[in-house]
Amino acid sequence: MKHPFQSYRQLFPVLSSHIHLGSCSQGAVSRQVSAAIEEYHRSLLQYGHNSELSMARLEEARAHFAKLIGAEPDEIAVLSSVSEAIAGVATALPYVPGKEGTVYADTDFPTVGHIWQAQELFRDHIRCIPSIEGEVTIEQYKEHITEKTALVIASHVNYTNGFQQDLKSIAAIAHQNQALLFVDAYQSAGMIPVDVKAMGIDILVAGARKYMLGIPGVAFLYVSKDRIDRFKPRLTGWLGQEPASRFDIAHPVPAVGTRRFESGLPSFISIFAANAALKLLLEIGVTNIQAYMSELLEFSIEYGRRKGLNIRMPDGKDAVPSLVAVEAADASAVERHLKSQNIIVSARKDVIRVAPHFYNTAEEIRRTMDELARIY
Ligand SMILES: Cc1ncc(COP(=O)(O)O)c(C=O)c1O
Repeated sequence: MKHPFQSYRQLFPVLSSHIHLGSCSQGAVSRQVSAAIEEYHRSLLQYGHNSELSMARLEEARAHFAKLIGAEPDEIAVLSSVSEAIAGVATALPYVPGKEGTVYADTDFPTVGHIWQAQELFRDHIRCIPSIEGEVTIEQYKEHITEKTALVIASHVNYTNGFQQDLKSIAAIAHQNQALLFVDAYQSAGMIPVDVKAMGIDILVAGARKYMLGIPGVAFLYVSKDRIDRFKPRLTGWLGQEPASRFDIAHPVPAVGTRRFESGLPSFISIFAANAALKLLLEIGVTNIQAYMSELLEFSIEYGRRKGLNIRMPDGKDAVPSLVAVEAADASAVERHLKSQNIIVSARKDVIRVAPHFYNTAEEIRRTMDELARIY
């Protein structure tokens, strides 16, 4: 299989010594990201806090993420984690008696349930859809979303088995019931193209450190400008206000767009990193990345099976998932063993997640599957 991104491999120092297949957890860090971190570090040493430079990088990162998902910069808030963004939305959602239902699935990342169950007003009206063989079907969403639903939360890609959800269909069902669709795109952004407007997504969140190739400390929250006015964040602060009211303790005025979800000074080092990472991704193009990834993932599944590995496919179907989940009774021990062989993968529950990105080659997949088969 031809590797169209061969020339980019030298940008990722880890690839010279390791097989890096852990992008569902932490993507490989590029030289550009490393240089951006150094730029921030240097600015601290030279100026203390260089506000102009820091705010410029923050706005660049906001604009880059907006471009990545087909949104406008004013529709993006820059926060510190996906959990913070979900909590921000949960505590800002207006409570309307009779219209207070939340729908999510048992395959969503646990933080979704943790946050929603902490909301006293909403927690008695949660519908958590039970998955069937790792998948939640559109029929199930149809069954659980009703006229009482205020918000539907759905993962674009399942974090344990790579199942990709049909968001457009869920958006249609949500909107027929006057509910909003909130997408957790942490396992897809940077690898699968996302167009929030075309897909009918009202709210979306993604963190920087997985397929977006940044480091922990940054998550981007999108709220459509058509929906933002109904949200009055309670998790807010001076940076979530209109500039004129930031230093007025008595008269806060929430920012016009999604910035109202921001609170205090963010982790600039992570923002510098995310900005450089997003710039590289936009240069390569996520559509180009996806084309190669489909081929590489298909090969990974076919080769893994040929080597006798049990690969968990959502609902046993043949749709190619966005990562390869290899069954392993003691997945953490297998992860540690592979690490000792300079192979980076990520264990979750009883699977090893083999999660390639555009920088990986078929040869790296072969070597990883061979090693997994050897210890199976
Ligand atoms: C799909 C998904 N959502 C949310 C999270 C949690 O993100 P954070 O630690 O930024 O809150 C993760 C973390 O792995 C994830 O995979």
